Amino acid sequence: MRTSWALGVTMVLAVLVVAVTAKPWPAPDFKNCIDLPIESCCTPVLYNGTARKFTYQSWLPMRTRPAAHLVDAAYTAKIQKAYALMRALPDTDPRSFNNQAKLHCAYCDNHFFYPEYPNSRLEIHRNWLFLPWHRLFVYHHERILAKLLGDDTFALPFWDFDNQSAEKPEGNTYPLLYRNPTGFGPFGNSSALFDPLRLASSSYPRLVDFQDPFQFYPNRTDDDQRIKNAHAMYTQIVATPVLPTLFMGEPYRYGDVGAVGGGTIENKPHGSMHVWANLIKAQFTNSASDPVFYALHANVDRLWKIWKKIPGGVRKDPTDPDWLNTEFTFYDEDGKIVTAAVHQALDTNLLRSHTLPSTQNPHEALNPILMDPLVDSCTDCTLHRLLIKRS
Ligand code: C2O
Repeated sequence: MRTSWALGVTMVLAVLVVAVTAKPWPAPDFKNCIDLPIESCCTPVLYNGTARKFTYQSWLPMRTRPAAHLVDAAYTAKIQKAYALMRALPDTDPRSFNNQAKLHCAYCDNHFFYPEYPNSRLEIHRNWLFLPWHRLFVYHHERILAKLLGDDTFALPFWDFDNQSAEKPEGNTYPLLYRNPTGFGPFGNSSALFDPLRLASSSYPRLVDFQDPFQFYPNRTDDDQRIKNAHAMYTQIVATPVLPTLFMGEPYRYGDVGAVGGGTIENKPHGSMHVWANLIKAQFTNSASDPVFYALHANVDRLWKIWKKIPGGVRKDPTDPDWLNTEFTFYDEDGKIVTAAVHQALDTNLLRSHTLPSTQNPHEALNPILMDPLVDSCTDCTLHRLLIKRS
């Protein structure tokens, strides 16, 4: 009797301690955004209603993200139209292309402040918020494009840059969809998916480079580049980051100061791909003002899913309530304010979002001698065969 009473008290105390110390970040109030002297990323507060709480849009059809290098003419016309419409929105509309890029920037570089912690501003990079924040941001971006098209089946493409197969069209080059400066169909001659600031060093048929995105050594052979990329993918996605915090970033709780430590996926391939894709826009300030940002992040999203499926059963999302209950604020497809929690970002089925399989996965993309014991899980081993042939 006495033991169970003591146990009860201990449990109540434990619950109280957790309640007092639990520190998920609350959703930022868009009114608490402060521009920096060097950077103005706060979107004007364009909607003053109460924020809606995000709920799954379970009525949506399952939307399927295709690989950007494999899309057909009909898809190309559709996404061209979507971005042309988004770019045509005035900046008095929070869904405008410009405001989307600003919202990404506002979540970086110390813009959102909380009166309770005047010295720490919300940062969604280089910590464990990186993956869920970007998934939810891209989700809402995709829903806005769908709304502009009047087509709820619309899904963004993913840039299949981890695919090191030499088969054409290649996944690991700049996708034609984004690199073609010319528009399509009735929406004018200039492509709404093109950005003129990209450097020639990443132009077709250059292969992506995760290790040396500045292209200091551009004379590598394509075969060597593929192997280098495959090694980087294997190290960053498969071999090193078994623990969630190594993969997605260090714990970062309400009131903590900034970039406590990014995960392997954020550093490479994510960071190096931004540099490779658009060096001039690789900064947080304006990276989301190149449309390829969203295809790059659709692939980061996909790699997160792949990481969880790597055999071994140890690669799992954190269960820490401070992570699960952190909340963010976005603009929804109607331009209204919505808050969504990290735990709502974890199941892509509930988000009604699928990704078409790539021809290759990062754990399939390396010399089988090095990737043992994962070699057993290889299903499409194009690069294996390529590497085996070479050696
Ligand atoms: Cu917020 Cu790819 O960065």
